Amino acid sequence: MEQETAGNHIEHLHDESYERGYDPRNLNRTTMIQTTGRTAESLNGLWRFTIDPYDTGLRMGWHDPGQHGVAAPWDYDPDGGEGIPVPSCWNMHRPEYLHYEGSAWYARRFAYRAAPPGERVFLRIGAANYDAKVFLNHAFLGNHRGGSTPFCLELTGGLRVENLLQICVNDARTLDRVPMRNTDWFNYGGIYRDIGLFRLPASFIRDFKVQLVPDGTYGRIKFEMAVDGPASDGEARVEIPELQIAAWMRIEGGRGELTVAARPERWSPDTPRLYSVSAAYGGDRVEERVGFRQIGTAGTDILLNGKRIFLRGVCVHEDDAQCGKVSDEADIRRRFAHAKELGCNFLRLAHYPHTELAASIADEVGLMLWEEIPVYWAIDFTNQSTYADAENQLLELIKRDQNRVSVIIWSVGNENADSDARLSFMSRLAAKAKQEDPGRLVCAACLVNKAKLRIEDRLAAYLDVIGLNEYYGWYDPNYEELVQIGRNSHPDKPIIISETGADALAGHHGSRDELFTEEYMAEVYHKQLAILSQLDYVQGLTPWILYDFRSPRRQNRYQQGFNRKGLIALDKRTKKAAFQVLQEFYRAKAAEERG
Ligand code: GCU
Repeated sequence: MEQETAGNHIEHLHDESYERGYDPRNLNRTTMIQTTGRTAESLNGLWRFTIDPYDTGLRMGWHDPGQHGVAAPWDYDPDGGEGIPVPSCWNMHRPEYLHYEGSAWYARRFAYRAAPPGERVFLRIGAANYDAKVFLNHAFLGNHRGGSTPFCLELTGGLRVENLLQICVNDARTLDRVPMRNTDWFNYGGIYRDIGLFRLPASFIRDFKVQLVPDGTYGRIKFEMAVDGPASDGEARVEIPELQIAAWMRIEGGRGELTVAARPERWSPDTPRLYSVSAAYGGDRVEERVGFRQIGTAGTDILLNGKRIFLRGVCVHEDDAQCGKVSDEADIRRRFAHAKELGCNFLRLAHYPHTELAASIADEVGLMLWEEIPVYWAIDFTNQSTYADAENQLLELIKRDQNRVSVIIWSVGNENADSDARLSFMSRLAAKAKQEDPGRLVCAACLVNKAKLRIEDRLAAYLDVIGLNEYYGWYDPNYEELVQIGRNSHPDKPIIISETGADALAGHHGSRDELFTEEYMAEVYHKQLAILSQLDYVQGLTPWILYDFRSPRRQNRYQQGFNRKGLIALDKRTKKAAFQVLQEFYRAKAAEERG
């Protein structure tokens, strides 16, 4: 007969299905609320932090002092642990946490004053990498998967005068996540974007979208709204004072849309014109700064407001030597200023959704953006649960940034080997993006078909624009192959060279033939630009990358844990020789465009 162990705490030590019930993924794009234009009650600041490498918290119930009925002493104290700032990455909090991957528990207490009747309270977390499980006053409320998109949950009814909020964040790299376990960027863990409470009326505006109707007339603006609450029928008020728009929109069954005539000034990088747009429904009101433009393609051309434009870009990661993946306003404005200095009108925000602050500031300063979900390299393309995570991240990104005029491209992935499973997975994502947001372009960073030395990828049929990553002069030494690829390719849609470049340690000088010197890197840029500028179907360029960044895969004497392909060094100040090479190319390109 089996050893009797039932009835005491020992059985939890043997239960390897402890995550059962903690993975409903109920916090997703359907639970997002409109937060732009609202004031949050910030929960940023010091939280109590406890690492949990063996998932003891979920096994024994660190959210539940009753520990699933186990009387053993509690091995956890929500008011214990150490103070950690939110937002932040735990890797940067102390040296011994740099390479920590796994679960960690955040806890904080907050008071909630009695609310006016009908008030509803929502929690929004800007991003937590990768899986976040939320507990309020010892009750499990749900979890979110996806390391770079916001998620919301309603707390109404669960709040007391004094509350304990706990969040278990797990950033383990696994086979079924998006991205999978192998990336050329650092796996930062934690709650690394803002967290706050939103108090809303019983019936409130859950979603609000406003866009120029992309019909080539530039004369119609469409408003769409979803409301949540008992008053699902009524009238919403939408206003754009500078366009003399003030109109009522019928709401029926919780939804409404309205298209009005208007002649807004068209947004572009040279004229980043934004308008104040407000929407009101019952006792709720939101306001946004919105631009109006049309992006499209004609053959192999990219058209902004009907006019051919070359996307002069560069790739950027969210990465900082001091604060990891946290991007604050100063960091973003510095990044954009360097891009403008380089002569850019475009940025590829690789390889995951960047903070929403980036798109808001890009709207303001006039930079077009490629935004992307981390369907990166190898993904478990046959796993439907993995697909659901990827699609949810895509839809959360689209919903979050739908009113950001700077975002012109949704990218569904990067450098994925061509297979039937990958084609099915990524073509579904591309179709979903197009269906969700027909006013933007859908893209992916694809690979060269090396067997045929041609730009050829079955996924291209599902894309509006084809991204192409190629590293001739670095991983592939023979530039002549790139010339042949240029000649052999006859794409029927625009190509963006979404990555090219080379490593150089800033300040390391030598001959143009010596790897990792600035001279070698500059020579790669010279040769690449000479070849690519001959290809009239190449209508965009985002070399890899603006700044050096942390990557555990990069360990030689020049790299020492960092990818050194930055045009600017890790200090985000020291420019390498290649910066000027690209800058001169973009200046000539811009002059050519001005005619
Ligand atoms: C790849 C990949 C990047 C990576 C880069 C490199 O194309 O998309 O994430 O950092 O090449 O090798 O430096």
